[in-house]
Amino acid sequence: MPPSTKNKIVVIGKVPPALADRLAAIGPVSYLERSQALSEAEIIAAARHAQIISTEPPDAITPAIIQACPDLFMIAQRAVGYDNINLQDCESRPILVTNTPGVLDNATADLAFALLLAAARRIVEADNYVRSGQWQGFENDLLLGTEMHGRTIGIVGMGRIGSAVARRAHGFGMNIIYCRAAESNKSAQDNDVKLDQKDLQWQTEFGAKRVSLNSVLKDSDYVSLHCPHNKQTEKLISEEQFALMKKDAIFINTARGKIVDEEALVEALAGGKIRGAGLDVFYNEPKVSAALLTASNVVLAPHIGSASEQTRYAMAALAVKSIELALAGTLPPNSLNSQIFDKWLKNRI
Ligand code: GLV
Repeated sequence: MPPSTKNKIVVIGKVPPALADRLAAIGPVSYLERSQALSEAEIIAAARHAQIISTEPPDAITPAIIQACPDLFMIAQRAVGYDNINLQDCESRPILVTNTPGVLDNATADLAFALLLAAARRIVEADNYVRSGQWQGFENDLLLGTEMHGRTIGIVGMGRIGSAVARRAHGFGMNIIYCRAAESNKSAQDNDVKLDQKDLQWQTEFGAKRVSLNSVLKDSDYVSLHCPHNKQTEKLISEEQFALMKKDAIFINTARGKIVDEEALVEALAGGKIRGAGLDVFYNEPKVSAALLTASNVVLAPHIGSASEQTRYAMAALAVKSIELALAGTLPPNSLNSQIFDKWLKNRI
């Protein structure tokens, strides 16, 4: 594809050099590096004349940005979650929006499991204990944790990442229960659950059982969130849901902070309603509640679910491929608003 002056691209954040070369072949590219979330004004100043923006989760693409960037016709998100972009705002222009599903499932499931093991076996406490010189010698009941084998993990949201977590849990000899989007609401009952082909496959593959959200919460030793954040899942896990969990339960969130009422989580941890937590995402990230920062029964990570070298490369590569495909007149399979594509294409010709 010859370089064009038409397709001005703004990349918020960075992409690996080999992919930067591919972007440069599409059009003039500017990089808007950031160590913290940019303001609306900063994004507008950089993207005012851009046709394409590539974003990541902290980059809120507000209606004001869309209005201030009249030439913008594509947003290539380098993440699977896209709660920073309102698809409705993009529809009328139309602006094509793509994300990066599939390539980050294993990395994110690995991190969920890393947090689960770290919280259950108290790895961070143990590390601090050794480093701080407190260790005097072997003690039979020193830093006792809980184990994986034979215990039950409850997965909220059995999509690509949730099922990758189930695969790992099966390898650890755990019992697996889960709910899918249809019954990830607070009032669903077990008998509302209608099994489909995927459920039968997971039953055979991992012995996994599909139940309601309430049963996941009540019957799990470990609860791990893997659903997207949207209007339906905002604060899905709140005081009432923590009250359903076992006192011994460990809660893992590598999905989005806004799915959880963080005050209720703090209260559940402090009040002994649950045993511990492993958190990669936060309601107001990068702000983390003071109570979480000082709690010894919580393992914290700075939104690094997909942060492996291989996966971050694959995510950026998929975003670049999506731009290349769209400009060549082919609908990228990972488009989030494919219904606008015909109109979108007509505007490009
Ligand atoms: C990361 O948070 C993602 O949604 O891919």
